[in-house]
Amino acid sequence: MSYAATYSRWQADPEAFWVEAARDVQWFKRWEQVLDSSEAPLYRWFAGGEMNSCYNALDYHVANGRSDQLALIYDSPVTNTIRKYTYGQLRDEVAKLAGAIAALGVEKGDRVIIYMPMVPEAAMAMLACARLGAIHSVVFGGFAANELATRIDDAKPKLIVSASCGIEPGRVVAYKPLLDEAIRLSTHKPSSCLILQRPMAQAELVEGRDHDWLTAVRAAQPAPCVSVAATDPLYILYTSGTTGMPKGVVRDNGGHLVALKWSMKNVYGVEPGEVFWAASDVGWVVGHSYIVYAPLFHGCTTILYEGKPVGTPDAGAFWRVIADHKVNVMFTAPTAFRAIKREDPAGKLIGDYDLSQFRTLFLAGERCDPDTLYWAQDKLGIPVIDHWWQTETGWPMAANLIGLELLPVKAGSATVPVPGYDIRVLDPEGDEVAPGDIGNIVVKLPLPPGCLPTLWQNDARYKQSYLSAYDGYYSTADAGFKDEDGYVHIMSRTDDIINVAGHRLSTGAMEEVLASHPDVAECAVLGVKDDLKGEVPIGFLVLNAGTTRNPAEIVAEVVQMVRNQIGPVASFKQATVVQRLPKTRSGKILRGTIKKIADNEPYRMPATIDDPAILGEMAEAVEKLGYGR
Ligand code: COA
Ligand code: AMP
Repeated sequence: MSYAATYSRWQADPEAFWVEAARDVQWFKRWEQVLDSSEAPLYRWFAGGEMNSCYNALDYHVANGRSDQLALIYDSPVTNTIRKYTYGQLRDEVAKLAGAIAALGVEKGDRVIIYMPMVPEAAMAMLACARLGAIHSVVFGGFAANELATRIDDAKPKLIVSASCGIEPGRVVAYKPLLDEAIRLSTHKPSSCLILQRPMAQAELVEGRDHDWLTAVRAAQPAPCVSVAATDPLYILYTSGTTGMPKGVVRDNGGHLVALKWSMKNVYGVEPGEVFWAASDVGWVVGHSYIVYAPLFHGCTTILYEGKPVGTPDAGAFWRVIADHKVNVMFTAPTAFRAIKREDPAGKLIGDYDLSQFRTLFLAGERCDPDTLYWAQDKLGIPVIDHWWQTETGWPMAANLIGLELLPVKAGSATVPVPGYDIRVLDPEGDEVAPGDIGNIVVKLPLPPGCLPTLWQNDARYKQSYLSAYDGYYSTADAGFKDEDGYVHIMSRTDDIINVAGHRLSTGAMEEVLASHPDVAECAVLGVKDDLKGEVPIGFLVLNAGTTRNPAEIVAEVVQMVRNQIGPVASFKQATVVQRLPKTRSGKILRGTIKKIADNEPYRMPATIDDPAILGEMAEAVEKLGYGR
């Protein structure tokens, strides 16, 4: 069926549309209500239904002819390892691990934090939690101890699953000291930790609290899949909000299963048995949805890649993986392609590999700049599809749904709204703007299955953050426009979130760190354009009156503080000391204007600025950092 016909069918009867999709997954008990609106604007999909996400990902396929098909391929150029698991093997490993986790006292509804590098055991831990009805919360390895501690205090896990180390090119990142420090910092203390010892670094285990992974799994009995309510949480994934306190995005079991299964065929155009590779990290939503859950729900082979697009060993790394494992469809972030293009502009390395079965490339996480899109299209000769989504939604809101039909690709646009999403562009008064005009992008409630039902134990923050700006709409915090053809163009965030190498970071959280330096009186952090990472943060510091210390030393200290307190992933490497910051007369720092100066974009003198002369000082400051003119 065409895209237009499918979208109309959804519009005509959304509940019937999702009931049909729900027939494609396995239920232990059928739902009583497709959409429970009794607590609107909070909605619940498939209320009364029971199922298990791990059963749908593994056991069902084992029992239905896929036992010997590859489920997961671990490809790790940083450790020179390739390990393959069939559906049968992966189910057995996960069942044993679930047994070990249950033996540590974890039950349905308990939280388990997973702080792991890109090893298959990370995916197994997620699936083992799902098997038990425990709620996992994966924390990205590039976050520092302090960020982990914040998540421990919010999720209150009974267990933390971790590993001795991760491998970044050129260095082994010891995870265990970070974990120990996080537990020291947190108020809530987990009762146990399960630690995977990797050969590159041995972790010291704390007697009575820490358990060795292999020993625990060897001693465990396989655990069966527990029946959970469709509306029970499958996981919590923390994402940057506008303060240092991240938002605990909740994902339910039933709606997530239905939406992800539907997306594999209709958005990504993938058939069961095919090979799907999302080159991301299990710490991000892309990793949750499209490394672990969706490909397995759909009976595909998924790839878990512990490496980078370049340097492991070269800019041909992606092509090598695609050729070796016969990848049909790949998903990554534009920044990865910018990295490859920078090292191999002519795409020479592509010719070294047989990519004949590679059919479609999907990009998301940040707007795909036209240059990168054209380069990928030209060098690969296949459709390259930019699509738009957020941690909150868990699956795409706008895409070119190749499983339905390939619509004409427009560079710079994420194409059209996915069925389930009624996307509108509103002005501040709540009126829809004309095609081509930029406004706030919102989605009419209810959101489709798979999207966040709320924030972890915080309905009030959910409503305040997402539902309060416009009655009856979910605010995406993205700004953009719809063109005459109904194509969606996402242009920027409306809050202080920046997008660094496809990673979502809060400049507000970085400002909180800078402001805590004893010599800093006030500060501003903003994202400036970067050829590789899309955006990088830069900081401006105003020092306390009378500070006699060398400014360079203070800058070095705040850079280190952000690395220690938020993590290396923040890529906060540059800051400068200024005499004052440009402000409105009411005292609001004009971050937008500083950003325009740094990005060398035209700006209008803000009417409310307290002293226009200061913009000249800012131009000098950004120039010192290598930006602006
Ligand atoms: N554990 C510990 N440290 C980590 C880490 C992890 N899991 N992931 C990243 N880091 C560190 C990096 O080593 C780097 O440290 P450094 O400052 O000492 O160099 C820092 O965090 C920043 O990492 P990153 O943003 O990945 O930058 P990079 O310069 O190492 O690589 C790219 C740039 C473009 C190659 C890289 O960002 C990439 O592969 N992106 C792919 C896109 C992607 O995965 N997006 C996710 C959403 S789909
Ligand atoms: P995350 O929650 O980390 O997935 O980040 C979500 C944010 O990334 C969105 O709100 C957008 O600002 C941005 N984003 C993701 N995909 C795209 C895209 N295809 N085009 C433009 N922006 C995107």
